[in-house]
Amino acid sequence: MRTLIAGNWKMNGTRAMLGELDRIAAIAAATEQVDVAIAPPFTLIGEAAAHAGAVMIGGQDCHSADKGAHTGEISAPMLVEMGAGFVICGHSERRAEFDETDAVVLAKAQAAQNAGLIAIICIGEDEAERDEGRALMVVASELDGSVPATATAANLVVSYEPAWAIGTGRTPTADEIGEMHGIIRAKLLQLLGEEGRGVRILYGGSVNAGNASTILACPDVNGALIGGASLTAEQFVPIIEAAANVSQ
Ligand code: 13P
Repeated sequence: MRTLIAGNWKMNGTRAMLGELDRIAAIAAATEQVDVAIAPPFTLIGEAAAHAGAVMIGGQDCHSADKGAHTGEISAPMLVEMGAGFVICGHSERRAEFDETDAVVLAKAQAAQNAGLIAIICIGEDEAERDEGRALMVVASELDGSVPATATAANLVVSYEPAWAIGTGRTPTADEIGEMHGIIRAKLLQLLGEEGRGVRILYGGSVNAGNASTILACPDVNGALIGGASLTAEQFVPIIEAAANVSQ
């Protein structure tokens, strides 16, 4: 399975940031054993796709309908037309800020896959759920509710992102990450049969150049989804290099 290092620029990035993408693309082209992806804001997807070279460009969200009266929304076929290859579905910030339920995430992921995109479905507990000992249950139930039954190893990536680790500098221990990813793998096998064995499971939440090697070496960690440290080539490139070393 090829390691995937994906950056989520969130609501950051103007054209000035495309220079960072050029620098990231140069390293991605030279690092054949690792897949590299970046989700810039919608406004940059077209231009980013033209700059991207070996970097796959994607969206951070899409609507579940292909078109219609949904002011302000963007559909999966529109992302495809702009050169996107994937879309993030159900990021915890969307689940929390925009009340996205598992049913909404499922519909978005289905629309994405129907349009030919890879859906990166995000799951993960918040701090209270972890403190109450419910993290494993929350993650299993999010997988039950948001993974399309027809998903394949080619069009699904799952990203485990505990909300309390996002942007905080805190991460679960390597043992905790390994345990959670093992549970996610078992659940994917239950939901998708043998196809679930090939689905890449990313870890996201405060990944940086200092902790990437340890995190990427955990069992069933097949890559990372990175926010803050994906915004500059200076911070993102060492993570790609760490992934190349771990996957050797
Ligand atoms: P940080 O890497 O900034 O913690 O964000 C992680 C994330 O939300 C990726 O989707």
